Amino acid sequence: MNIVDIKDTSGKLFYIGGVVRDELLGRKSFDIDITYIGNAIEYCAKFGKVLRVNPDFGTIRVDVGGCEVDFASTRAEVYDRKGHLPRVTKIGCSLKEDVLRRDFTVNALAKSVTTGDIIDYTGGLEDLKHKTLRVLHDESFIDDPTRIIRGLKFAVRFGFELDEHTKKLQTDYLSNINYDMCYKRVKKELTETFNLNSQEAFERFISQGIYKLVTEKDICIPQVNIEKLIKEYPVQNVWLVYTGILGDLSRLELTRQEKKILDDFAALQNNQMNDDYEIYKAFIDTEPESILLYAIMQDENKARRYLDYLRNIKIQTTGDDLQNLGIKPSPEYKVIFDKILRVKLQNPQMSKADEISLIKNSLE
Ligand code: CTP
Repeated sequence: MNIVDIKDTSGKLFYIGGVVRDELLGRKSFDIDITYIGNAIEYCAKFGKVLRVNPDFGTIRVDVGGCEVDFASTRAEVYDRKGHLPRVTKIGCSLKEDVLRRDFTVNALAKSVTTGDIIDYTGGLEDLKHKTLRVLHDESFIDDPTRIIRGLKFAVRFGFELDEHTKKLQTDYLSNINYDMCYKRVKKELTETFNLNSQEAFERFISQGIYKLVTEKDICIPQVNIEKLIKEYPVQNVWLVYTGILGDLSRLELTRQEKKILDDFAALQNNQMNDDYEIYKAFIDTEPESILLYAIMQDENKARRYLDYLRNIKIQTTGDDLQNLGIKPSPEYKVIFDKILRVKLQNPQMSKADEISLIKNSLE
C-alpha cells in the first residue's frame, strides 16, 4: 500500500506526484510525498518524529509509523540558472500553482488526504490512461534537462511514450544542449534508469540521442549483446557498463571506485595481451565492470577467455612452501610465482606437488 495512514481533516494535505501516479497504476512507490497548502514545516511536525527540515524549500521529513514521509509546502519556483536547482519564489501558494511547476502531467496529480478525491489540473489522468508523458510547458527541458532522463526512466519503468509535442521539445533541446547543468542530478536519474531494464534504457538512450546530455563526442555503437554479457557475468555497477561505452563520463561526478573502473578499462585497451599469461596478468586485478567494457568495446574473446577459463586457474604454492624449500622471503618470490603461473596456465591440471617439483628443478 502506498498511501500512509494520516488522520487529518484540514482538507489542505494532498498526496502528490509519483505516489499518486504509482497508486493509480497499482504499483508500489519508493517514497511518499505530501503537500500542504500553506507552510508545512510547523503544521506537519505533529504527524510524527521530525527527521529533517529544509526551510528554504519549505519541506519537512517525518517518521509516520515507521514510514519516512516528505511533507512539502505548496511552492512556486523560477529557474534563474537553467539546468540547476530552481529558486523558490513563494511558499504557501495555491495547489494549482504548485502542480504547474512539475515535470510531466502524470506526475502532477494530487489526491486529498481527507477525502481521497483526485485533483487533476493538467490532464494527467487521461495521459496515465494512454501511457503518455507530456510536459506542462515548452520550457520544461530547458529549465531542467534531467527531465529528459526522467522521461526515459518512466518510459522504461511503465512503458510510457512521449507525446508528439514533448518528443519535438526533447529533440530540439538535444540539438542545442546547455551543458551548464547540475550533473549530480543527471547521474542520479541515469543510475536509477539503468538499474531498471537496462537494455531497453540503453537502446532508447542511444536512439533518441539522450546520451548527448553526457558527452559531446561521437560515440561508437558496440555490436556486442551487452544484456547477455551482464546476465552471464553479473556486476554491481550495471549503469557504468552501459554508459562507459560513451568513452567520456568526465561531466558526471564519479566516485573513486567508478573512476577506477574507467581507468582500468583504459589500461586494458592499451594492453596488447599476446598470450594467456598476458591476458591473465592484465585482468587479474581489474574491476569486473572494466572487463565487461573491454569485452564490449575491444575484444570479447579475450575477456571471455579470462572470465570462463583463466581466472579459475590458481597456483597452490604459498610463501610458506617456498620458505620450507629454503628460499628466504624476497622479491624473488614474485618471480617464482610468475614462473609457476606461466607453466600452469598451459598445464592447468598441475598439482601442488608438480608446482613444487618445478621450483626444485629450476633451483638445481
Ligand atoms: N519533479 C519535477 N522535476 C524533476 C524532479 C521531480 O517536476 N526534475 C516533481 C514531479 O512531480 C515528481 C515529484 O517532483 O513526481 C517527486 O520527485 P521524485 O520523488 O524524484 O520523483 P517520482 O516521480 O516520485 O519518481 P520515482 O518514482 O522515480 O521516485
